[in-house]
Amino acid sequence: MLFTSSELITKIVINEKTQNALKLYGVVLKPLVLLLTIFTGIFPKNYEPPPGGFYFEINDVSPVVQDDPLLFDYNVEERVNDFVAAAVSQANITRTNHIMFTMGTDFKYQYAESWFRQLDKFIHYVNKDGRVNALYSTPSIYTDAKHTTSESWPLKTDDFFPYADQANAYWTGYFTSRPALKGYVRLLSGYYLAARQLEFFIGRSSVGPTTDSLADALAVAQHHDAVTGTEKQHVADDYAKRLYRGYAEAESLVKLSLACLTESASISGCDSPKTKFEQCPLLNISYCPQSEVDLSHAKSLVVLLYNSLGWKREDVIRIPVISESIVVRDSEGRVVESQLLPLLNASTTIRSHYIKAYLGISPSAAPKFWLAFPVSVPPLGFTTYFVSTAKQTDSASSMSTLYSPQVTEKSTTKIGPGLVKLLYNADEGRLSFYSNSRSKVNAVVEQSFSYYTGQDGNGSDPQASGAYIFRPNGTYPIKSDTQVPLTVLQGPILDEVHQQINPWIYQITRVFKAKEHAEFEFRVGPIPTDDGTGKEVAMQITTAMMTNKTFYTDSNGRDFIKRIRDSRSDWELQVHQPAAGNYYPINLGVYMEDNSTELSLLVDRSVGGASLVDGQLELMLHRRLLHDDGRGVAEALNETVCVDDECAGLTVQGKFYVRIDPKGEGAKWRRSFGQEIYSPLLIAFSEQDGENWINSHVGTFTAMDPSYSLPDNVALLTLQALEDGSALLRLAHLYETREDKDLSTMANVELKKIFPDKKIGKITETNLSANQERAEMEKKRLKWKVEDSQSAEMVARGGPVDPSKLIVELGPMEIRTFVIKFDYIFLRV
Ligand SMILES: *[C@@H]1O[C@H](CO)[C@@H](O)[C@H](O)[C@H]1NC(C)=O
Ligand SMILES: *[C@@H]1O[C@H](CO)[C@@H](O)[C@H](O)[C@H]1NC(C)=O
Ligand SMILES: *[C@@H]1O[C@H](CO)[C@@H](O)[C@H](O)[C@H]1NC(C)=O
Ligand SMILES: *[C@@H]1O[C@H](CO)[C@@H](O)[C@H](O)[C@H]1NC(C)=O
Ligand SMILES: *[C@@H]1O[C@H](CO)[C@@H](O)[C@H](O)[C@H]1NC(C)=O
Ligand SMILES: *[C@@H]1O[C@H](CO)[C@@H](O)[C@H](O)[C@H]1NC(C)=O
Ligand SMILES: *[C@@H]1O[C@H](CO)[C@@H](O)[C@H](O)[C@H]1NC(C)=O
Ligand SMILES: *[C@@H]1O[C@H](CO)[C@@H](O)[C@H](O)[C@H]1NC(C)=O
Ligand SMILES: *[C@@H]1O[C@H](CO)[C@@H](O)[C@H](O)[C@H]1NC(C)=O
Repeated sequence: MLFTSSELITKIVINEKTQNALKLYGVVLKPLVLLLTIFTGIFPKNYEPPPGGFYFEINDVSPVVQDDPLLFDYNVEERVNDFVAAAVSQANITRTNHIMFTMGTDFKYQYAESWFRQLDKFIHYVNKDGRVNALYSTPSIYTDAKHTTSESWPLKTDDFFPYADQANAYWTGYFTSRPALKGYVRLLSGYYLAARQLEFFIGRSSVGPTTDSLADALAVAQHHDAVTGTEKQHVADDYAKRLYRGYAEAESLVKLSLACLTESASISGCDSPKTKFEQCPLLNISYCPQSEVDLSHAKSLVVLLYNSLGWKREDVIRIPVISESIVVRDSEGRVVESQLLPLLNASTTIRSHYIKAYLGISPSAAPKFWLAFPVSVPPLGFTTYFVSTAKQTDSASSMSTLYSPQVTEKSTTKIGPGLVKLLYNADEGRLSFYSNSRSKVNAVVEQSFSYYTGQDGNGSDPQASGAYIFRPNGTYPIKSDTQVPLTVLQGPILDEVHQQINPWIYQITRVFKAKEHAEFEFRVGPIPTDDGTGKEVAMQITTAMMTNKTFYTDSNGRDFIKRIRDSRSDWELQVHQPAAGNYYPINLGVYMEDNSTELSLLVDRSVGGASLVDGQLELMLHRRLLHDDGRGVAEALNETVCVDDECAGLTVQGKFYVRIDPKGEGAKWRRSFGQEIYSPLLIAFSEQDGENWINSHVGTFTAMDPSYSLPDNVALLTLQALEDGSALLRLAHLYETREDKDLSTMANVELKKIFPDKKIGKITETNLSANQERAEMEKKRLKWKVEDSQSAEMVARGGPVDPSKLIVELGPMEIRTFVIKFDYIFLRV
């Protein structure tokens, strides 16, 4: 089969008439290129050797080729016949007369000699026989051979999800398996992006810390048995350890870069900065020794926020603190409104348990509050805020206000200090209504939790639910324990609703004054298994929307692909598993729409999700299972955390975000807020005595021209210092054709304004992995004939970069990669 790379799935059709019309209006039509296609396919038996006895690990049982005629087990003809039969059978379902045998599979070639000895004999005797021609090959040789046949190929523009290898074996469990590892990979990918930028600003060091080991760890974690969660526990631990070590080195680099950048406006390198910054990787469990400090002795806490996005950013920062009368000031000394939220028991419990588990220490008393304040950070830059205890001269209105929790029992609750309001009903304390007074969206919305019990594999069908496979044996709603009331924290910046859903699910819902979505932070675990069954925990958002079985999920965070329940675009489907057979991977988000509105749900890590009922979206948040599913892990997916020899199931904490828009207006939030989720503000802390920081440090910084920011439809994927001092730059257009009425257009990026302090000498466009020039690639790229030429549409693409103007154009979903050499560097004054 032939299909497009995922960023090119959508196409624009520009016929001659519109082309001429555009010319008349003097619009320079950007190069329209034929949809790029790549060659792909599915083999009859995964990547296994063909059926008929072709496994040659030394302990395999396939008959070896015995070609000594003096021996009684001489079998050359027999084995040649087996080989030819396997070839003919595969050729029967394969276009052209070239087929590929994948001679090996997982765990093979531990003793390669035994394989190659047999393959040598097969090639020799099969070619002597002459019915088929056999040779050692590679995927590129095979692809070239297919290409030279001039065959036309069918075009496939979606993917192969969800995949099942048997009637009840849908490989949709791994979309969620090991959600904490998935979260860690995502968190560090975003951190890596920011750390590379900071490395670029101060120049790559040949002796100091670099981001290389984080890059390596993240690369290894992309393996199909790493981030997928389909490895043994000790292997998962090894991946996490590598990630942590990479993080630790990158963190040293980040602290050094920030110190350099704050001590001097010059970005031309720095020797040994004196300023010490610290970071708090365990802010997620309310642990931050740097912010939990006594500020009463004229010290103030310096909070630096780095924004790795190419746009200015407004956000709300939350840090744990111990004192109550606090004043927050910005880098110009102006008081910033702030809000204190008490740290509730559920947070202190997870805090003390996991600090012990992660660090082996018992922390001092827990901080009493979260301090929240709004921040505004320039693109590709930082700004600084100062947190101190109030002095007598500070007016009461400048101090942070503490809003005590209210426990609501049997009354309707409405939260939201801004445009978005959430309503909770009186009897069950359940979310019931969502409104946005700007967009005039009013919608009935409910949230519920449930779990699937994992099949144990002992029934008549031996397939168990496991790390790969989602094989439920029943689904059970989780009733909110109505005895436990809602705890509501309201204030000027944000409102929070705390819900103990059941003894092992806790949720905090936040609505911010300045944001038009609701944020849900969930804690699931330890999932109980004392009843002898594994459980897979899901969350549903239910509306009255008429969605006609249809919803949309992202492909690797890029295109959204249309999904229709119980249906596949390419073949007649028989769904054996109504839930498992309709689950899809959710990396960025999922949305559904009806005639008037669209509801989007964005995630902070990859999870499985579905729309099993019209008007409803579901995410699977966590899974704990007691049986192996027989796909190679040979272990139950039973993640546990031990503290002092006490072991309990892993608790997973994460976030998802919900917003409802008028139909056709959801893409802007999904794309721009999606970038904010991936690249949270990087927070670093320092301390100052007195108030001299501003006199000796740079308070705000942007690496770009101060008047510039990237267009709303473009993201900076990579800004990295290469070893020879040049820069690697990747820019991505965030929208698909027709996705948004304003932003699905050609975008222009001004490189001179991204690098205001540097003179660009030479710019070379390369392929995505930056190891081949684009011009070379275009010469070599194979062009495939498409069966139905109607489907070979044209897509708009940016033109070549004029070296004097240095403007990069990007068409919808286009990613462009450049290696940039600088002539010299201007010093920033
Ligand atoms: C080829 O495929 C057809 C149809 O599926 C089948 O009837 C036939 O037995 C196959 N032949 C071989 C040699 O596998
Ligand atoms: C929170 O924890 C404290 C100390 O452990 C306890 O006294 C208090 O009752 C708890 N509050 C709630 C609401 O559970
Ligand atoms: C399915 O669940 C029922 C209990 O609801 C249990 O009796 C049965 O053994 C389970 N079957 C499998 C194969 O897990
Ligand atoms: C299923 O069978 C396996 C192997 O016989 C056994 O170890 C396991 O305890 C059984 N599980 C259940 C839930 O019956
Ligand atoms: C529902 O979707 C089907 C395709 O899955 C389509 O044929 C039908 O027209 C849709 N109905 C409505 C009311 O949109
Ligand atoms: C949605 O709009 C289509 C076309 O305008 C119409 O046929 C359909 O009945 C509408 N569906 C609902 C639920 O209003
Ligand atoms: C799951 O983990 C718990 C806690 O470590 C352990 O007691 C239990 O035996 C494990 N069960 C399986 C099937 O691995
Ligand atoms: C908290 O964040 C760390 C990474 O800094 C991660 O490893 C851990 O899983 C997170 N903890 C929870 C409970 O989510
Ligand atoms: C870029 O080109 C190099 C050299 O041909 C190749 O090895 C690499 O796979 C290409 N990268 C991508 C992403 O296509």
